Amino acid sequence: MKKVLVATEKPFAKEAVEQIKKIGSEAGYEIVLLEKYSTVNDLLIAVTDVEAMIIRSDKATREVIEAGKKLKIIVRAGAGYDNIDLQAATDNNVVAMNTPGQNSNAVAELALGMMVYHARGFFNGKSGSELRNKSLGIHAYGNVGRYVAEIAKGFGMKIYAFDPFVEKTTIEKDGVNVVDSEKELYKTCQYISLHIPANDKTKNSINYNLLNEMPKGAVLVNTARKEVIDEEGLLKLMEERNDFAYLSDIAPDNAELLKEKFADRVFFTPKKMGAQTAEANINAGIAAINQIIAFLEKGDTKFKVN
Ligand code: 3PG
Repeated sequence: MKKVLVATEKPFAKEAVEQIKKIGSEAGYEIVLLEKYSTVNDLLIAVTDVEAMIIRSDKATREVIEAGKKLKIIVRAGAGYDNIDLQAATDNNVVAMNTPGQNSNAVAELALGMMVYHARGFFNGKSGSELRNKSLGIHAYGNVGRYVAEIAKGFGMKIYAFDPFVEKTTIEKDGVNVVDSEKELYKTCQYISLHIPANDKTKNSINYNLLNEMPKGAVLVNTARKEVIDEEGLLKLMEERNDFAYLSDIAPDNAELLKEKFADRVFFTPKKMGAQTAEANINAGIAAINQIIAFLEKGDTKFKVN
């Protein structure tokens, strides 16, 4: 029987695992679970004899891919695939896929949730502020960005977006104002919600100069990747501007220092939890197992990213 490894250091909800098992076994596959593993070695052993692997932010390095002697496909149950060594996958004839859109609403809800949490002084009982009529800049208008716009509309925010890869008319159809540059987005918006991937172009791109364009009472919300932030630049800016807040679902390397210095202006989730809902896990998990079956049975490469 062909094996599919579900390797999730941060496990899916129980219901998601049950659905993956059901769909997999009905198609004649054995589902092998490796949850909350603590060493790379656990993953290297588990991947040895499987045809397919489902991961989340787990790192599919060259070493892991090469350890998978029978491995034909890796599906990242989620959006960002910066955790897969795509070159190593290609070199070893392994197809890499993601499941775009499946966990996006969960991430968007967290982004808005963090904005409310901060606006209300982290629920400290003192007088706070509201999101209505505040300007929100959505940096990259992909699946998560679209949900952020939809929810923010309900809050009555003024919404702007910048995304050079999405047609202006597509964004405008959602009632969102399009700006022509990153700089203009940051200059215009009190709130910025980041939804860019981490790649060679974007790493460290959210830097001091760009952030300093933001108006008074600036709030940067990061549910994307920590690597896109120039952490030194952010620290310098927060030292200079006592009106600047940073809320992130991916704690920066200097998280402890930032918390110590700016307790009332930073918030970091204890563990990346944007996509950590039963719904998102079920959607992404089902998509992942279905994509594996479609590829192994019919050669369907629709969501291939390498
Ligand atoms: C994604 O890229 O899909 C999100 O960052 C979620 O990542 P996670 O599956 O590790 O929670």
